[in-house]
Amino acid sequence: MAPLTFDQIRALEEKHVLPVYQRYPIALERGEGVHVFDVDGRKYLDFVGGLGVNALGYAHPRIVKAIREEADKLIHTSNLYHHKYYGELAEQLCRLSGMDRVFLSNSGTEAIEGAIKLARAAGHKAGGEAKSGLVALEGSYHGRTFGAMSVTGQAKYRKEFEPMLGGNVGFVQRNDSAGLRRLVNDNTCAILMEPIQGEGGVRECSREFLAEARVLADKHGALLVLDEIQCGLGRTGGYFAYQDMGIVPDVVCVAKPLAGGLPLGAFLTRECFATMIPPGKHGTTFGGGPFACRVALEYFAVLKEEKLLENVRRIGAYMQQRFRGLVEEFAIVKETRGRGCMQSLELTVPARPIVEKALDHGMLFNSTQDVVLRFLPPFLIQEVHVDQTVTVLRKLLAEAG
Ligand SMILES: Cc1ncc(COP(=O)(O)O)c(C=O)c1O
Repeated sequence: MAPLTFDQIRALEEKHVLPVYQRYPIALERGEGVHVFDVDGRKYLDFVGGLGVNALGYAHPRIVKAIREEADKLIHTSNLYHHKYYGELAEQLCRLSGMDRVFLSNSGTEAIEGAIKLARAAGHKAGGEAKSGLVALEGSYHGRTFGAMSVTGQAKYRKEFEPMLGGNVGFVQRNDSAGLRRLVNDNTCAILMEPIQGEGGVRECSREFLAEARVLADKHGALLVLDEIQCGLGRTGGYFAYQDMGIVPDVVCVAKPLAGGLPLGAFLTRECFATMIPPGKHGTTFGGGPFACRVALEYFAVLKEEKLLENVRRIGAYMQQRFRGLVEEFAIVKETRGRGCMQSLELTVPARPIVEKALDHGMLFNSTQDVVLRFLPPFLIQEVHVDQTVTVLRKLLAEAG
């Protein structure tokens, strides 16, 4: 059978796929390192990284090898039985985070759902149903299921699906410590936040704000839940962003790069919350299967052996320096924000047209919040890739201005 052309691929999707995505007009076929190729053989330098998933780029030989080996042995078992990788991966996540217990899910959203359930169960135990309040941040993004949407502080994601879950959810502006103090009380079971908001435009919580959240959670017996689904697992140059921000949470959610592109998420918690969810009250069919766990172990091995966190820190500083140059050079570039391989340029004009035009220059970019260019490149990028990106950006920003 002849391979489908781009037009045929698009026609099939237009006819049969639920139209919830606004895809860019290319169809990707394969990847290698930090580049992807479309069905017409065009090459793109990837500064989107599968929205933060492809931290090791494409077709990393060690990930491919692990997948091949495990595919031959055991893809799925269900959670009725033990397998040799779940505990090993849980131990690895605990060692790197300082947490004690792990639940593995299939996605970031499901990790958030589990964390909310844990917080609700802990709240029930401490104060009955009254202690069910959740406090989250304006501009946050935690996922698309009802629990995750209910704590996502952006009306545009909830509008068509109201009402959200019952129980009170309060939203406060990021870094508004006084606002947080007003919202958190003895009926709060969890304070939930991304230490660096990703979809919200790469906006960081201050150390003071996080410290205040920690104090309030302790004072009112609430859990401090951090969503590190986008900023965690190496993206900022440390294993977890909070490790550089002066606090220890009660629960951490991760996903995206965890299994080298296979779906896998997790929420991690401390020993004192380990038995809050009784046996049989939470679970998943697919989550934490041997295939994904084996690849996740390889992910951590590669991060360590290839010293990729060092590269993330080094290249992140270089990106920042080059992006600051763009802020100085172009009036339409308002500011640059970010850490490591999570960077952004906030514009005064819509960002999507720039993303679309970048395709013609062999670059994958991404935009969020209408005016923010967000960059989540693989951890493997080097100066030459940043230079190439800046060259294209300079051309497109000059045209847009
Ligand atoms: C911070 C954050 N939380 C949660 C999610 C949802 O994760 P998933 O799409 O894997 O369900 C995302 C996805 O972009 C995210 O960036």
